[in-house]
Amino acid sequence: MPSRGSIRTDENMRTAHLKILVSLSVTVFLLLAQTGLAAAAESTAVIYFSHTGNTKKLASIIHGFVGGDIIEIKPQKAYPRDYDTLTKQAKKEQEQGARPALAALPPLEAYTTVFLGYPNWWGTMPMPLFTLFETNNFNGKTIIPFCTHGGSRLGRSVEDIKELAPGATVLKGFSAFGRDLGNVTGEVQNWLEVNGIQVKH
Ligand SMILES: Cc1cc2nc3c(=O)[nH]c(=O)nc-3n(C[C@H](O)[C@H](O)[C@H](O)COP(=O)(O)O)c2cc1C
Repeated sequence: MPSRGSIRTDENMRTAHLKILVSLSVTVFLLLAQTGLAAAAESTAVIYFSHTGNTKKLASIIHGFVGGDIIEIKPQKAYPRDYDTLTKQAKKEQEQGARPALAALPPLEAYTTVFLGYPNWWGTMPMPLFTLFETNNFNGKTIIPFCTHGGSRLGRSVEDIKELAPGATVLKGFSAFGRDLGNVTGEVQNWLEVNGIQVKH
């Protein structure tokens, strides 16, 4: 027959074991939660093309809210700086359905959410964006378009994205005047919240 003292020791041992088990479970849970959060942040990319820097500025504001990676799309052959030459070339590329070659990009497979930014050129995305869709697989990804413009907002770009990536989910796009990005932060935040995107404050 065990003595009263030895029963108390057994109970103390059991309580100690229980405490260790609980603290281990909490640690494992916290570690898993942290890993999960890191994985979620890593699977977001802000991918953009910008010729004169407006879309780059908007991309950087969005990136500040959503984190993840930020990737610039560059054509292998840079576009001309002269506005008239550029607009003529861009119009011709669109009419001819050109697919300008892109400079090397990192692999995009791992990204599940892609914020895709571009300037409105002749009513839609510049043709390098069409190349992007035709040389990468967007099936199963969520695409969130954003653009800067001189008055035509997103134009027909979102319809074009849906056509180019039928296997993707395309959320509500955002547009801002290219020369008026000074006070856009609040609007960006609203748009992200409407799309159910958790923002970093
Ligand atoms: C070739 C070209 C075509 C453009 N076409 C349009 C257009 O159809 N509608 C519009 O609102 N703005 C148009 N713009 C204005 C740009 O969308 C605007 O300046 C944009 O903010 C430029 O972005 P970026 O600085 O990132 O290159 C055009 C600009 C260029 C250079």
